[in-house]
Amino acid sequence: MKTRVTIHRDFTIAEIDNRLYSAFIEHMGRAIYTGIYEPGHPTANPQGFRRDVLDLVKALQIPAIRYPGGNFVSAYKWEDGIGPREDRPVRLDLAWRSKETNHVGLNEFAGWAKDAGIEMMLALNLGTRGIEDARNYVEYAIHPNGSYWSDLRRSHGVEQAYDVKMWCLGNEMDGPWQIGHMEAKEYGRLADETSKAVKAFGKDIETVVCGSSNDQMATYPEWERQVLEECYENVDYISLHKYFGNSSHNTLNYFAKIEETGRYIQSIAGVIDYVKAKKRAKNDVFICFDEWNVWYHNREQDSKNWRSWDWPEAPVLLEEDYNLEDALFVGGLLNEFMRRSDRVKIACIAQLVNVIAPIRAEPGGKAWATTIYYPYQFASLFGRGTALNVAVDGPRYDADAAQDVSYLDIAAVLSKENNEISIFAVNRSPDQAMELDVAILGFAGLRLIEHRMMGGDGTGPRVANTTDAPDRIKPRKGDGIAVVDGSLRGELPALSYSLIRLA
Ligand code: AHR
Repeated sequence: MKTRVTIHRDFTIAEIDNRLYSAFIEHMGRAIYTGIYEPGHPTANPQGFRRDVLDLVKALQIPAIRYPGGNFVSAYKWEDGIGPREDRPVRLDLAWRSKETNHVGLNEFAGWAKDAGIEMMLALNLGTRGIEDARNYVEYAIHPNGSYWSDLRRSHGVEQAYDVKMWCLGNEMDGPWQIGHMEAKEYGRLADETSKAVKAFGKDIETVVCGSSNDQMATYPEWERQVLEECYENVDYISLHKYFGNSSHNTLNYFAKIEETGRYIQSIAGVIDYVKAKKRAKNDVFICFDEWNVWYHNREQDSKNWRSWDWPEAPVLLEEDYNLEDALFVGGLLNEFMRRSDRVKIACIAQLVNVIAPIRAEPGGKAWATTIYYPYQFASLFGRGTALNVAVDGPRYDADAAQDVSYLDIAAVLSKENNEISIFAVNRSPDQAMELDVAILGFAGLRLIEHRMMGGDGTGPRVANTTDAPDRIKPRKGDGIAVVDGSLRGELPALSYSLIRLA
């Protein structure tokens, strides 16, 4: 298979917003309890947060994190998680039928996020609650002092208000499973009024309104149109969610779901443009893809478990053992976000620890990286700057999820600051190597400074990292690619992911 690619320094897509590499963590399963927080763990800091997990988190350089849900947020009382721990009530979390001790709440999580160097993006409960509680929460979190809620925060030992700019107006409100689910118009009205209240607290506050829970919802994309028609002028982002799987073990169809996602983004961009035109609006609304990941390995069993269990505390839930093909998929999906960085400004891998996560943590034991950790890390570290247009001329295939799909999945990012280009390339073919010729125009004297690779060594697509063997799949030094006469040439082995850095 031969593929020719052309990149030009001046043919740009957009400046990538660093928040494209954000994450999400929810009070569910073992994400918080025995995930990031485990007092008594040998590595726990004085606040009870695991240092081993924190180190893995820090190495990802995550810009922002969405918290505390997810479905959990739609019946959450944020006041349960503030003040002295001994006074905090144990509640039943209706979303995952689990027990919530409230040992971690806003202030503890904020301390953790600060240590991790991550900005918080907080979700408001618009399921069982509304504008009044939203404004109280925002006042508690970000108002400096001299009011009931800000002074309450100070009395809890937090003198300095948090610098939280991003507020999510509920979660998946289109989903019938959501506690407090609404019709589009009804939700759009509530989102509009809540956004106005939240924005009263500061000029730089941004809000995210809920789009569809995925592109298979019966109400998609009419939901987005109706919601935006109610609130367009008062919001900054509309959320997209999508989870992926390969239950049929059809690798090429799995990768084609990345193209399908491109269409999803394009369709919502179209709805945004339509509503903007219809309302003669002056402002722009961008996309916040605030939940995405692979989720299918244990999904059916997990669903049976949580529907029938007896309100356990921090149960094992959605702990997926990711394999090589999942890592390539995640690398490819991040490529799609870079390619659509003109419309997608924020994206959050869902989730971060234990629950459908790049990081796993054994209670009392070790923390380790799943296969998807690495492409996420490479994108976060080296995918910052200007996304470049990449013209691809090579073989293509048809699949159920999408037609006319390129075997090569590629994105390129120029860091003007370091005068460096990073190329992220996946050869999707399960059995054929790809001869690659990348003309890189508008640069002089480029040389290869790093090539890291995953797969491409005959490892089967479904070999996974597991608790017993957490290091099976890891990036290694790549080979077979070189700069020749200003072009990047060489071979990408079948079923491989490459990070190629040039300067
Ligand atoms: O991330 C797991 C769940 O997926 C979230 O709680 C919900 O928003 C989505 O359906």
